[in-house]
Amino acid sequence: MEKFYATTAIDYVNGAPHIGHAYEKILTDVIVRHFYKRSGNVYFLTGCDEHGIKIQKTSQELDITPQEFCDKNAKQFEDCWNLLDINYNQLIRTTNPNHKKIVQKIFKKLVDKGDIYKHSYEGLYCSGCECFLSDKDLDEDGCCLIHKKKPEKVSEENYFFKLTKYKDRIINHIKNNPDFIIPEFRAKEVLNQLDNIEDISVSRSKSSVSWGIDVLDDDSQVIYVWIDALSNYITALGYDPNGSSELFEKYWPANVQVIGKDILKFHAIYWPAILLALDLPLPKHILAHGWITLDEAKMSKSLGNVVSAQNVLKGFELKIPDALRYYLATSAAVGKDGNYSDLDFKEKVNSQLANSMGNLLNRTLSMLVKYFEGEIKQEFIVDNELFNRAKKLINNTKAHFDSFEVQEASVELMEFIDEINKFVTDNAPWTLAKEEKWTQCGQVLYVVLELMCTVSVLIEPYCPNIAKLMAQQLKFDINTKLDDIMFNNIKAQKLISKEEIKPVFLRIDSEFADKK
Ligand code: MSP
Repeated sequence: MEKFYATTAIDYVNGAPHIGHAYEKILTDVIVRHFYKRSGNVYFLTGCDEHGIKIQKTSQELDITPQEFCDKNAKQFEDCWNLLDINYNQLIRTTNPNHKKIVQKIFKKLVDKGDIYKHSYEGLYCSGCECFLSDKDLDEDGCCLIHKKKPEKVSEENYFFKLTKYKDRIINHIKNNPDFIIPEFRAKEVLNQLDNIEDISVSRSKSSVSWGIDVLDDDSQVIYVWIDALSNYITALGYDPNGSSELFEKYWPANVQVIGKDILKFHAIYWPAILLALDLPLPKHILAHGWITLDEAKMSKSLGNVVSAQNVLKGFELKIPDALRYYLATSAAVGKDGNYSDLDFKEKVNSQLANSMGNLLNRTLSMLVKYFEGEIKQEFIVDNELFNRAKKLINNTKAHFDSFEVQEASVELMEFIDEINKFVTDNAPWTLAKEEKWTQCGQVLYVVLELMCTVSVLIEPYCPNIAKLMAQQLKFDINTKLDDIMFNNIKAQKLISKEEIKPVFLRIDSEFADKK
């Protein structure tokens, strides 16, 4: 069975998780759940990035230790991912002792190899980016293009990583593997950035930053940010320069590393260079997603417009996260920016999840109970051309996910649900019942229910709870792999009673959107 290893960026824990962070974790979870339905052999890593000047400063202000601060905030991320049913295998924290030990060994290996060297340096440091900036990272006022803040002048003796040594190999890799960076248009950006790269600082003096991993054999320096943070993708699996674990051998290289477009440079340039320096294979794909805006505006603490997943679920009194998962995962085409708005959220999930999909199942099961006491009779079981359409849909879904087109796959699924709704309207089982054409009526209901088994499997990555509820009522195994769907799931039997029918998703009618 082919393995599938997916990672997300690890979040800075200096604030609470918002729907932008949630978007990335949901997107990755949907991808992993899809591939689970193909191979079953998946590993999903997420995590928290816990070192750096921001954490050090904020914890000082709060008069608690940085570790206490990280513990408290990492818990918020963990709780949020659990609330959203993010089915990760591991949540790595960079303050984890094993991670720290291996990062020190990685650093030492690169020093021994001559790829890390000491050098005095004067530069402009942005604590938002946690890196030194060059002129093209600054606007006319000399502020960081991303954080709109003046970077700090820093003059120190630091360790540097020989990024320039790997420049040509990275350029060749990107050119020879057009799907290494997804979406493809971002590869051009990265190639442009590669034109002007310089070696990068990978440590800071302890006198300016102490909250980091100590450099072995040099107690004046801490390993800083990117070597620490990026290494999480391999330390979590048990990579060790002196001999790695089975888990590492089994899953590395990653199939996809999901990150936001703002940190693509680090993942498409710095990270491949570190891996090449360690003689490790490169990930198959780096998926750079776009940003989630709120009511079309950038979310930021200073603007006071940061929305959390918890608040959305609470505001709409949602007990399961499926609607928000569905909305966010399908909010943008691959690599493009998406938007969250209360009104649009409410309208989209009401129309697609409650009306089109949920109602279709509910109506069909209700008719089965009304006309046949919930029983599927042998003569109802017929072939239908829509089964071929469903097979095609499964193949198309696979093709979409091979290109990480999570939104695009959902659009096709919703179109298929519309087709099933049209099949019901065109065949009007209620009229057939009135005319006492019982076999024909039963056949229509059977075809719809059989198709809803496929729908439940395909919606599961987005809406795992709704899918489970659908499958339960269809007496269908929601863990059926995509290749095992045979269109013979609904057997001649008493399928359901009136009491067992439950709406899978109720329309959201909260006033939340209007109150805001
Ligand atoms: N700690 C670094 C990543 C290190 S990965 C080895 C970091 N942390 S972050 O907390 O600032 O961002 C974590 C992820 O969330 C990034 O991929 C970032 O792009 C993503 N997002 C943060 N805000 C976002 C939106 N508003 N919308 C979508 N994703 C955004 O960068």
